[in-house]
Amino acid sequence: MRLALLGCGTVGSEVIRLLHEQSADLAARIGAPLEIAGIAVRRVGRDRGDLPVDPDLFTTDPLGLIKRDDVDVVVEVVGGIEPARTWLVEALRAGKSVVTANKALLAEDGAALHDAAAEGGADLYYEASVAGAIPLLRPLRESLHGDRINRVTGIVNGTTNFILSAMDATGAGFAEALEEATELGYAEADPTADVEGFDAAAKAAILASLAFHTRVGAADVHREGITEVTAADVASAKAMGCTIKLLCIAARGADAAGRETVSVRVHPAMIPLAHPLASVGDAFNAVFVEAEAAGQLMFYGRGAGGAPTASAVLGDVVAVARNRLAGARAASESAYADLAVRPMGEALTRYHISLDVADRPGVLEAVAGVFARHDVSIATVRQGPAGGGPAGQGSDADLVIVTHVAPDAALAATVRELRGLDIVRSVASVLRVEGGQ
Ligand code: NDP
Ligand code: HSE
Repeated sequence: MRLALLGCGTVGSEVIRLLHEQSADLAARIGAPLEIAGIAVRRVGRDRGDLPVDPDLFTTDPLGLIKRDDVDVVVEVVGGIEPARTWLVEALRAGKSVVTANKALLAEDGAALHDAAAEGGADLYYEASVAGAIPLLRPLRESLHGDRINRVTGIVNGTTNFILSAMDATGAGFAEALEEATELGYAEADPTADVEGFDAAAKAAILASLAFHTRVGAADVHREGITEVTAADVASAKAMGCTIKLLCIAARGADAAGRETVSVRVHPAMIPLAHPLASVGDAFNAVFVEAEAAGQLMFYGRGAGGAPTASAVLGDVVAVARNRLAGARAASESAYADLAVRPMGEALTRYHISLDVADRPGVLEAVAGVFARHDVSIATVRQGPAGGGPAGQGSDADLVIVTHVAPDAALAATVRELRGLDIVRSVASVLRVEGGQ
């Protein structure tokens, strides 16, 4: 079984190391030896340390490597949309099985890859693309295919989880925690994809597609990052017995006509400390799946890093290699349900709103009236002197309101109207609350 390895960076070099260290076991598991036919990189002359591999295998011609007759399986760990899409479509159409960790490409144009796989009768596996080492996509794609998944809630970005965990533990602000994440090598030099939620949104699209048998792309996912989360938000969450996490949430729902839909979103949210995802700290990932018959399932582990991600890549390599030897192919993409993706405005959620208001008669009534006009029910109200200062009529007060579940558009309209009231000095923070009642 001969592999074309595209990419030899953080993940690719660990794939080579594991292939070398476990070659006898892998051969026994597959039923044939596994060999590297070539390794495509950008810079052949780059110093790659003591990588246990023949330097003559390196090439800067990925397409030439893919097209070789002696290549059975293509492993792509380069990343990005192009030229990776061209390479993988070429490989799949030619009947070569593909293993990829490329979440960005799968979320942007997974359809092109699935269609090419169907055309070429090849396997397309991508376990490493979501939550690194955690076996998650195979359970969704195979083990849970007899069940009906209602909701998937996950922490799928290690960098942002590290930052939010540091803010929670030390009281640091976002910038300070990001600096620490960069120093420790969690955040990249340009952290945009992580902190603005693009990475998590790509993973959310992949999870939703598998869970709901529907093609969901990155553009279907409502995305908000963590750059606006403040130390005050974290403190406010703590006061409520909550913590703040960047969540990806994919859930079934229904439209006004009762037709089944899905909603897929990524945003920071408060979750109660008792929620299983609240204790997921540092750069770890975890995904909570709620299924009709299976009930609640939790998947936890390392979502990034060379070796953990290479573990998932090699698991896929063994699976596709076995299939090829057996002359078989895994079940193709399941998108039969073709559910409509609901806009964020229709997603059902709860809000935690902190207001700085004038402390005088009628203020609570006026504020409550805004919620009532938008058909948003208030769950709790807490009032204290502004900034912890002296209480008393005529001064300002901090008002913290938590709502019951309502459509996001109604909640957003409520906040807009509150901002316009002269008794509301400022809307200090607005955060969604998940995982409660
Ligand atoms: P790196 O940046 O460390 O490595 C990228 C590799 O691709 C390098 O070897 C580079 O060559 C090669 N490369 C880049 N452009 C080209 C090109 N045009 N032609 C040929 N080779 C090229 O990336 P990672 O290993 O971190 O990530 C790889 C993939 O895995 C991405 O899709 C990423 O999203 C995914 N992933 C990564 C995780 C992680 O923890 N790192 C976790 C989960 C998924 P050269 O070495 O010469 O520069
Ligand atoms: N940047 C990603 C993270 C890597 O922080 O989780 C894994 O996909």
